[in-house]
Amino acid sequence: MPKYTVPDFAALRGKQKIVMLTAYDYAGAVMAEAAGVDLILVGDSLGMVVLGYESTVFVTMQDMIHHTRAVKRGARESFIVVDMPFGSVQTGLTDALRNAVHLIKETGADAVKIEGGEEVVEIIRHLSQSGIPVVGHVGLTPQTAVNLGGFKVQGKTVQDAQQILRDAQAVADAGAFMVVLEAIPAPLAQKITERLNIPTIGIGAGPHLDGQVLVYHDVLGFFDRFTPKFVKQYAQMSKLGTEALQQFVREVRTGVFPGPEHSFSMKEEVLSRLY
Ligand code: KIV
Ligand code: NA
Repeated sequence: MPKYTVPDFAALRGKQKIVMLTAYDYAGAVMAEAAGVDLILVGDSLGMVVLGYESTVFVTMQDMIHHTRAVKRGARESFIVVDMPFGSVQTGLTDALRNAVHLIKETGADAVKIEGGEEVVEIIRHLSQSGIPVVGHVGLTPQTAVNLGGFKVQGKTVQDAQQILRDAQAVADAGAFMVVLEAIPAPLAQKITERLNIPTIGIGAGPHLDGQVLVYHDVLGFFDRFTPKFVKQYAQMSKLGTEALQQFVREVRTGVFPGPEHSFSMKEEVLSRLY
């Protein structure tokens, strides 16, 4: 399948659901591409699921560059979105553009994603007008979750729901070509999807969106700390992996592994001439 470009995603609206998945390394990217996802997100969730940080706030530009390069090597044909880490866009338009350009040049990613609504529209406009495709992210924004009362569903009151509607609209008006809606009620996500003229991608936002995204480690059950309600696990890799590793430990201790099939032989005449 040829690699998507920005207009292709708009063209998919109403025809076919857009499937986004995160990936953080070469092996994961190979699997995501082989599975046929439409686009890959190198999310700053990597800080939690891969690096073990307490939150995504600690993720650096260097972390994003390191992992996105590996993803790019594993998924050459995929459209890749990279998250702007916390702090990389907050210190002014010039810094935001410099960091976005740096991320794209260093990694070969196709687009950047920025968390926030009305408060980040100047940044989104500046980057889009400079030729950088931008994905928005509104609703629950993990980088600023501490202000939102933690990791919980957003937009339950009239005031909050109205703000999220305004945020989504503002992000689209500023030039974002796609927006992620995270952890909001399904009917609100539907309303936003009907109003916007760019594709909406949901995570914990119900079924009425143009597409869906999940975190690789959640989909495959790799992350043991917690699983949000909106995640569907398609495998339990943590459990499977631990059991497999326990068997490896047992087999080494009991001498079952390595067997003859894992070992190299040598001609008797060669062996017999050693002294
Ligand atoms: O970092 C991430 O994985 C994300 C998705 C959850 C949208 O931003
Ligand atoms: Na993110």
